[in-house]
Amino acid sequence: SHPIIFDTDPGVDDAQAIAIALAHPEIELLGMTTTYGNVDITTATRNALLLGELAGQAIPVAQGAAAPLVKAKHPAPAFIHGENGLGNIELPPVTGQAISATAAQFIVNQVTARPGEITLVAVGPLGNLATALQLDPGIVTKVKQVVIMGGSVNEGGNVTPVAEANIFNDPHAAARVLTAGWPLTMVGLDATHRCVLRPSDMEAIAASQGRLGEVLAGSYAFYSDFYRGARGIDGCCPHDSCALAWLIEPELFTTARGHLTVITDGDAEGQTLFAPEGRPFIDDRWARTPLVEVCTGADGKAVVEWIVDTLK
Ligand code: BDR
Ligand code: CA
Repeated sequence: SHPIIFDTDPGVDDAQAIAIALAHPEIELLGMTTTYGNVDITTATRNALLLGELAGQAIPVAQGAAAPLVKAKHPAPAFIHGENGLGNIELPPVTGQAISATAAQFIVNQVTARPGEITLVAVGPLGNLATALQLDPGIVTKVKQVVIMGGSVNEGGNVTPVAEANIFNDPHAAARVLTAGWPLTMVGLDATHRCVLRPSDMEAIAASQGRLGEVLAGSYAFYSDFYRGARGIDGCCPHDSCALAWLIEPELFTTARGHLTVITDGDAEGQTLFAPEGRPFIDDRWARTPLVEVCTGADGKAVVEWIVDTLK
């Protein structure tokens, strides 16, 4: 089984991924750490607590980054995930609260207590992982692996022509996390845009997840309106669930190893640049950054089947 810490900015697709982390028998969800991103930090934390409670599980939630490390904060675009992050559907009250440790402290404490065992799965802007690295650089050799949803190799961006949202929202944090030298896999738009969760898939999920299913389906309907307009598809790309799909079923993805850097400023801020391993360049600055793995594609149909099967 995979003990994970799930770093998240819920978020409609985050919510679905959280439901998977709570449901999958091979995933042991040690805690959720929250970041601003799709919503402000207080809303992100409230949603993480709520989703755990709706699933009837007492999962610790540690609150994290309220803003990017360096750049100015962009207001969360409410037309994508809704003002409340869950498609503006009516939400029940939350009874629990976040633990006193910050997200970064929680990550450092857990990873230090179980060296070599814990996987960090990060599906929002990467400020919490960057701050954890700053608190204790030693976690680089103590995590089992890091899986992030974010970035893009050949697919282009979804916020700008070249930048994906999670990287764009904190490129300085992303630069630190992607070049830290820990075993890392980037599951970006090259994989997630191959996956489309259709309304019929969501019906099957909603029917079997109780109260949690109502929240997933209601928020999905709102997110679908955005996808219809933005990408002209009937359904949503389940971005964040793809990071978990990769963790459990890596054979559903194609991957490549190489060097990754992040553009932090200028028109291309938030772009991830990938140089495949062994390909010589005249200017070898990329070759000096640690090797990572990137997903270059996915069997979208099989990934969506895995999501539905996990939640059914
Ligand atoms: C990513 O951005 C967020 O809006 C989603 O939750 C996902 O993590 C996709 O680019
Ligand atoms: Ca997210």
